[in-house]
Amino acid sequence: MRKINIGLIGCGTVGTGVAKLLLENKDIIIERLGTEIVLRRVADIDIKKDRGIKFEEGVFIDDAQKVVDDPEIDIIVEMIGGKGIAKDVILKAIKNGKQVVTANKALIASHGKTIFKEAYAKNVDIAFEASVGGCMPIIKALREALVGNRIYAMTGILNGTCNYILTQITDKESLFQEALLEAQKKGFAEADPTLDIEGFDTAHKLSILMSLAYGININFNDIYIEGITKITPIDIMFAKQFGYKIKLLAITKKRETGIEARVHPTMIPFDNLLSSVNGSLNAITVSGDAVGDLLLYGYGAGMMPTASAVVSDIVDLSRNILFNSKGRVPFLSYQMEYVKDISILPIDDIVTEYYFRFSALDQPGVLSKISGILGEHNISIKSVNQKSRKTNEPVPIVMVTHIAKESDVKKAFNVISSLNIVCDKPVLIRIEEEDK
Ligand code: HSE
Repeated sequence: MRKINIGLIGCGTVGTGVAKLLLENKDIIIERLGTEIVLRRVADIDIKKDRGIKFEEGVFIDDAQKVVDDPEIDIIVEMIGGKGIAKDVILKAIKNGKQVVTANKALIASHGKTIFKEAYAKNVDIAFEASVGGCMPIIKALREALVGNRIYAMTGILNGTCNYILTQITDKESLFQEALLEAQKKGFAEADPTLDIEGFDTAHKLSILMSLAYGININFNDIYIEGITKITPIDIMFAKQFGYKIKLLAITKKRETGIEARVHPTMIPFDNLLSSVNGSLNAITVSGDAVGDLLLYGYGAGMMPTASAVVSDIVDLSRNILFNSKGRVPFLSYQMEYVKDISILPIDDIVTEYYFRFSALDQPGVLSKISGILGEHNISIKSVNQKSRKTNEPVPIVMVTHIAKESDVKKAFNVISSLNIVCDKPVLIRIEEEDK
């Protein structure tokens, strides 16, 4: 059987992991694929830095163009990241009729439609397993294993950096900035870490998964996004008292009126499986009509777990090449002509439980005033925690509600914020109970 030639472009954390895995596990890959995958070229702007890999003579170069134009190369593995050069490289590779593997969630979320259209026209496959959930085979699950299901909900922890930071603050009382620095040092964070901590990376991933699950065009712009930068130790402490952990969740649900899609810090009960997912680990539950609930769990970031997903794509595409079966699995799981546009419901329409923290003067009647306003807006309180200090300083009043509508919560907050007994902007964290 003929060998498969790879051109790897971008030799940062994940690119290095891919090269290492292809070289170190060459024997087992041959046993599974039936032929050898040859790392023919690796390109990076910095070829001086030691990656701990001994490339063969002439393999490691600084010219990406040479890789994309090499007629011997079957598969281009784009590990550059970002939406600039990476996009040009992928489009050029498609134009040259090469199969493409990428881990670039930001690019797929923003320009997937253009890339898939070009690839379809050239009968080129694009594989992007590593773009969501690191080593967890969630894309394969949605594209292949769950193909007989109607998917109606997914809830996931999809950003290793945020999960690492929240875990460090919760379990080790680390400071936010310290924990972020550690995540950067460990190679979990994006080159621009605001993509992680402001929730955009999670939303990129959610938009890809929704597309695969529901057969809709990737729609990143309409997802409601809130990051973790406003989460404070005091809210983590109160969450614990109420029996919750705070996680940055990606949530989507199919409702009769449309699709819910949101990314925000969320309180989940201790007995929710996702609350035990710590550090850079990711997990996702997928609910389908036949399968019920399915849980995937694994490292969502880091060199070798992410490389594992990339190599799985390389082997998949190699199998397609060897058996001349390109285009066998549609990029987004659905045949192109069935992929539709569906609008995402505004955040105001969601219905869930809430945690509120008000900072108010410690005076008689304050609690009844606040709860009265909430009641007038159809918000019913499940439990309250008020720490009295008997001083003139503001004290936290903390509440957990029953199910309420987000638009009602916003209206109530406007009224409460205008009271002169309320000092700071109220804090709101959504709660996700199971079986709601
Ligand atoms: N920055 C990402 C994360 C990398 O922390 O999850 C993996 O996509």
